[in-house]
Amino acid sequence: MLLHVKEVLNADELREARAILKRATWGDGRVTAGVQSAQAKNNEQLPQDSAEARALQQIVLGGLNRHAVFFSAALPKRVFPPLFNRYGGDANAFGSHVDNAVRFIPGGQGGRVRTDLSCTLFLTDPDAYDGGELVVEDTFGAPRIKLPAGDMVLYPGTSVHRVEPVTRGARLASFFWIESMVRSDEARRLLFEMDSHLMRLRTSVGETDPAVIGLTGAYHDLLRMWADV
Ligand code: NI
Repeated sequence: MLLHVKEVLNADELREARAILKRATWGDGRVTAGVQSAQAKNNEQLPQDSAEARALQQIVLGGLNRHAVFFSAALPKRVFPPLFNRYGGDANAFGSHVDNAVRFIPGGQGGRVRTDLSCTLFLTDPDAYDGGELVVEDTFGAPRIKLPAGDMVLYPGTSVHRVEPVTRGARLASFFWIESMVRSDEARRLLFEMDSHLMRLRTSVGETDPAVIGLTGAYHDLLRMWADV
């Protein structure tokens, strides 16, 4: 499932994030790449343990934590500490690659994240740069994704994807991975669709309608059956 998650960050958070990004020192993006993807990767990245990266992570995680659609779609079990990248100038593209299946959380935090879902949260307004589309190859085509600042795309960790060259300006984004409580993309999608329709039903017929209560129970029975917590 590929999903556009709107307004993960609000205008104040974006302003704060950009101020931090402005004073940050960028490094080579290849430090977190696997062997294959290092061949294709040409961008810059914030060092994971820098004060700026840590402050930005808190902003992104705060946005995710209050976002009901994100929770319903991802059913997150573990979130990799968000990373931040910049495409522009001579370091402006990331060719076709796949993300590693397991990421090790850096520093003292320890632990591993299975990359069921990949996320890109856009931090630059789309009219401030040319190119820079995230292209996700799937059986139904290869959508070219370029979203408003503050919006995020969730896509399967299994996909081949790339970032097209940025030919004007710079594209700043946060990217990270999620291990979901529900490993199967198919099961997760079914739960998301059921939950989305249930939310609409609650609005149209009310919380206390017996059918709404019964269907809510069926949703939780499926989640209980499939969730690994
Ligand atoms: Ni990738």
